[in-house]
Amino acid sequence: MKFIHLTDIHLMAPGVPLNGGDPAANLQRVLADIAEWHQDAAFCVISGDLADEGDPAAYGWLQEQLAALPLPAFLMLGNHDVRGNFLSVFADHPRDGGGFVQHSHAAGGARFLFLDTLTGGPDVHDGELCADRLAWLEAELEAAGEAPVFLFLHHPPFDIGLPYVDDIKLRDPEGFHAALQKGRNIRHIFFGHVHRMTYVNWRGYSFTSLPSTNHQIPLVPERAGSEYSVEPLAYGVVQVSSDQVTVHFDAYLDRPGQGAAS
Ligand SMILES: [Fe+2]
Repeated sequence: MKFIHLTDIHLMAPGVPLNGGDPAANLQRVLADIAEWHQDAAFCVISGDLADEGDPAAYGWLQEQLAALPLPAFLMLGNHDVRGNFLSVFADHPRDGGGFVQHSHAAGGARFLFLDTLTGGPDVHDGELCADRLAWLEAELEAAGEAPVFLFLHHPPFDIGLPYVDDIKLRDPEGFHAALQKGRNIRHIFFGHVHRMTYVNWRGYSFTSLPSTNHQIPLVPERAGSEYSVEPLAYGVVQVSSDQVTVHFDAYLDRPGQGAAS
């Protein structure tokens, strides 16, 4: 099976620029590319930071765009999102019994678990999985048994050597690690937040992240001269079989003949 991973779309009102890009225009180009080339994907997931300022109008605009996408889209929250505003628009989006925007999805014999690591509150950017959310995760992992499990969360539980994001990672990595140990067949974990393409092996678990669809966080801020950079956008095309997980980081705008990112 195949699915699509996007992250950190940071929507503003259409036409309003953010950190060197136009988030709405960039997302439209991504979605058009997915619709053209990946209609056979089982689903698309956007792993948080949907709206840069958590604005209901941005969520409404996103809802309109996704209605035209020829595959299901699952949405997650990041530190820029506002849970109440999101749910005021996406009132039917799956969530857990506590009202957190996390749910499980069964497809292709596997379980896909989408977590909600939003802490909430003004100017709070680090993430959390409170006791209730961790309990939900543990219960889902136990229920999955031997089935392959793929996890998605916005905030990683580890440093990547970039202080800008390391300072706002997931709180209580030990609690998350303890919950992971309830899983018997976790195949891979996808995350967002860092606005960079990374592969990480943390305590034996493999993780990948993707660039934002709008702006990136430079690995060497001093070289970039800014805390943000305009590096190639990308989305993930993930292929899963019984014995393999392949993550393509498709910097689609750099295809010859299709123009360059701007
Ligand atoms: Fe972000």
